[in-house]
Amino acid sequence: MMLEQSNVMIDVHLNTQDPAAIKEEIRAGLFSTPRTLPTKYLYDDQGSALFERICESPEYYQTRTEHALLKTVADEVIARTGTETLVELGSGAAIKTRVLLDAMARANHLRFYVPFDFSEGIVRRVARELVEEYDGLQVHGVVGDFLAHLEHLPDGGPRLVIFLGGTIGNMGPEDALAFLSSIHHEMDSGDCMLLGAQLITDVARMEAAYNDAAGLTAAFNKNMLAVVNSVIGAEFDPDAFAHVARFNHDERWIEISLRSIRAQVIPIPELELALHLQEGEDLLTEISCKYTRGQVERLLTEAGFSPVAWYSDPHQLHGLALAHKP
Ligand SMILES: C[S@@+](CC[C@H](N)C(=O)[O-])C[C@H]1O[C@@H](n2cnc3c(N)ncnc32)[C@H](O)[C@@H]1O
Repeated sequence: MMLEQSNVMIDVHLNTQDPAAIKEEIRAGLFSTPRTLPTKYLYDDQGSALFERICESPEYYQTRTEHALLKTVADEVIARTGTETLVELGSGAAIKTRVLLDAMARANHLRFYVPFDFSEGIVRRVARELVEEYDGLQVHGVVGDFLAHLEHLPDGGPRLVIFLGGTIGNMGPEDALAFLSSIHHEMDSGDCMLLGAQLITDVARMEAAYNDAAGLTAAFNKNMLAVVNSVIGAEFDPDAFAHVARFNHDERWIEISLRSIRAQVIPIPELELALHLQEGEDLLTEISCKYTRGQVERLLTEAGFSPVAWYSDPHQLHGLALAHKP
């Protein structure tokens, strides 16, 4: 734990990860069907910066929609939860978070903010920015993997845990349920959860969001190979892959992959192997599940939460579910 300045504290848990576990996770993904790479490696500092630009692209309707929706419901959410501690999982640049922090400040409820993200640079930047922007705010940042380090969430309640941006969609339904259950386990009775979920809409709109004309999503996707190269000393050549994003109608999720544009052999000395890929073979890097209100509320209930309210935009593109831990 490190005290950065009187109102900022940052805990870093990533460097405590077991190198053997990291290698095993990557190896297991590469030899699963389909071949996959862990989605979190999309988000090093470069990936996080690219994601911020994607959020501003004309095709990526999700961020604008959730931002506008939050503006209409933030005061009500804060009034209903009475929270003084906002905990955000996968906080990223915390742009939309400001809407909730503003509502907490208006209600004279703003005390603590806990950004939790895989990307250290962005947690530090957000902490610095927010203590400047909000008088009296204490920021306790956590740099970690929310699939592995949730037990490090700081106490102090009642807490409102938010998980925005449709990040829940990056997990399949079973993993999402396991994840929500683990959040529920770490929360105290009386804490609340605000969960963002992207709703099923027309396929052309959903696919365009991941195939922006400026090529930002393609660059974001390929950047993952540079991250994996640095994590396990692999020799992936990003130029030997094409970005592919399409809707899988059976699973009801967008699949984002890197497609090998030729037959190739990729040395991965730290795994003591060479990966053989055929021309046209895909490495799945991310899924983005699209939900219905019923599915989201079922997930929350099965994870142990009691749904409190459901909010969505007029075009039914995005939902926000408010729930509490009884
Ligand atoms: C889709 S972005 C959403 C960012 C922001 N919440 C928003 O709504 O714009 C996902 C965020 O979750 C973080 N993230 C992804 N996987 C993670 C993991 N396993 N542990 C911690 N953070 C993770 C990424 O670094 C990124 O900031």
